[in-house]
Amino acid sequence: MTEIPRGTVQQTFYEQVGGEPTFRRLVHRFYEGVAEDPLLRPMYPEEDLGPAEERLALFLMQYWGGPRTYSERRGHPRLRMRHVPFVVDRAAHDAWLKHMRVALDELELAPEHAEQLWNYLTYAAGSLINTPD
Ligand code: HEM
Repeated sequence: MTEIPRGTVQQTFYEQVGGEPTFRRLVHRFYEGVAEDPLLRPMYPEEDLGPAEERLALFLMQYWGGPRTYSERRGHPRLRMRHVPFVVDRAAHDAWLKHMRVALDELELAPEHAEQLWNYLTYAAGSLINTPD
């Protein structure tokens, strides 16, 4: 048995940033922003934002290498298809990212982790725009 030297064990990004509590905090703070947002809040079909918060947290945890609970519950993410019922225009995109930026900053991650997460979120948000101005 060859021992893997300490410090060279491969960690997922999910683990590197602190696992579930980090993603829970991110998404919780994000939805506090959404709850106050005059453009975004009416887009969410449910009165209670809790279930939407749960779905986004589980999705992000899975995406970054954590447990696959999202897909066990919801199946393949197919995010573009799941956003078709909503008008995701430039204004909605900007508002969504604004609340994410606030939430991300409050996590105080290492700059390279924050950058990696932000790059993904901005790319993903751009790919979900489905309504031209
Ligand atoms: C671009 C601006 C965006 C807007 C306006 C938006 C809006 C919404 C709305 C209204 C819902 C329905 C709430 C629910 O029932 O869960 C939703 C669901 C969801 N969104 Fe977004 N979203 C945006 C971007 C993103 C991005 C960038 C991601 C991923 C990185 C994402 C991931 C999800 C997930 C995982 C769900 C739940 C899907 C499901 O399992 O049903 N969204 N979004």
